[in-house]
Amino acid sequence: MTDATPGPLTTLAACLPLGLYVHFPWCVRKCPYCDFNSHPLKGSLREDEYEAALLADLDLELERYGERAIDTIYFGGGTPSLFRAATFRAIVDRLSSRAAEVTLEANPGTVEHGSFTAYRRAGITRVSLGAQSFDAARLERLGRIHGADDIRSAARQVAAAGFESFNIDVMYGLENQTVGQALSDLAEAIRLAPPHISWYQLTVEPKTEFARRPPRLPSADQAAAIEDAGVELLAQHGYRRYEVSAFALDGHRCAHNLNYWRFGDYVGIGAGAHGKITANGRIVRTTKPSQPRLYLAGAAGANVAVRRDQLATEFLMNALRLVDGVDPQLFVERTGLALESLAGTIDDLVQWGLMHPDRLALTAQGFRQLDGVLARFL
Ligand SMILES: C[S@@+](CC[C@H](N)C(=O)[O-])C[C@H]1O[C@@H](n2cnc3c(N)ncnc32)[C@H](O)[C@@H]1O
Ligand code: SF4
Repeated sequence: MTDATPGPLTTLAACLPLGLYVHFPWCVRKCPYCDFNSHPLKGSLREDEYEAALLADLDLELERYGERAIDTIYFGGGTPSLFRAATFRAIVDRLSSRAAEVTLEANPGTVEHGSFTAYRRAGITRVSLGAQSFDAARLERLGRIHGADDIRSAARQVAAAGFESFNIDVMYGLENQTVGQALSDLAEAIRLAPPHISWYQLTVEPKTEFARRPPRLPSADQAAAIEDAGVELLAQHGYRRYEVSAFALDGHRCAHNLNYWRFGDYVGIGAGAHGKITANGRIVRTTKPSQPRLYLAGAAGANVAVRRDQLATEFLMNALRLVDGVDPQLFVERTGLALESLAGTIDDLVQWGLMHPDRLALTAQGFRQLDGVLARFL
């Protein structure tokens, strides 16, 4: 492990990469597995009002951090694709410089013909399509509002609209799912040639419909078998795993998400959006009111400084999700802590063959036991 000395966070903040996350809290219907801040749309979408609230929110944030350029933007949800292109254009245009990557999450059940061209013209550079599965019965069980043909049609439209990149979200470890069935979903996604695939293992989150009426999930061994086979299939088609659930062709990693995992800063606007900002020698986490009604009424959010004793764990919980991990110097730069604070735990993990000696990165064996390894740093 290289020797590195702590740097003052105050001077480093100005050159930290900065992302902008914009949350859209409505969906046509709530999926039974989802614990994101998303609310079923009742009545008509308050598009004008929400756009105005976002712009007011953004102006306030820019006043605080305005001298720092925004590198990436992520329009996430909920279902941002319920909104018209003009809303995204208004936000993109409010910034003084062009962000290098601008992602829009889109639900294949909400996009009409021609929308993607309009989104592209509004400044979106990358689309993320929520597919989840290509099996009709599973899509139904997952409460999705689209069929497999809607996914295929959306992917074709995205490709034709000329985006620089796009992603397809697929889930595995679904009810009674076999390795063959999970691979068939992945193969369908690969056939659509997205440069990026996010492949998530289904988790049952508290307070969701699935928590109340749990599906029969595959055993841990079965899920591990699906994972191994899926990683191999993806690799055969050129998709390199770079984070637990993220796979990309060369040159198509998601810069916005990489910034989260590398403990960079991001401004969060919109109902329930989270931000992380390094300023005045502290790292502050920001949260906006999650109820759309309160957010629209201009209710204040909360800002909480990350305690010094939480910083190392927070950093590692992100960085060790990356297959290549990070350079140890990044830990020093982004937390302001000395690497020596981790030395004992790292030495143990290196000895056990779970961590590399010269990077903050897990070995293949360590990666398989990510949760256990992270627990060592608590
Ligand atoms: C915030 S969602 C937004 C995508 C978009 N709203 C949609 O569903 O089409 C991002 C992705 O997280 C994944 N996801 C959500 N809940 C999950 C869960 N409980 N377990 C695993 N993956 C989940 C899904 O693949 C989903 O597409
Ligand atoms: S569409 Fe996406 S954000 Fe909305 S409820 Fe379903 S998974 Fe959650």
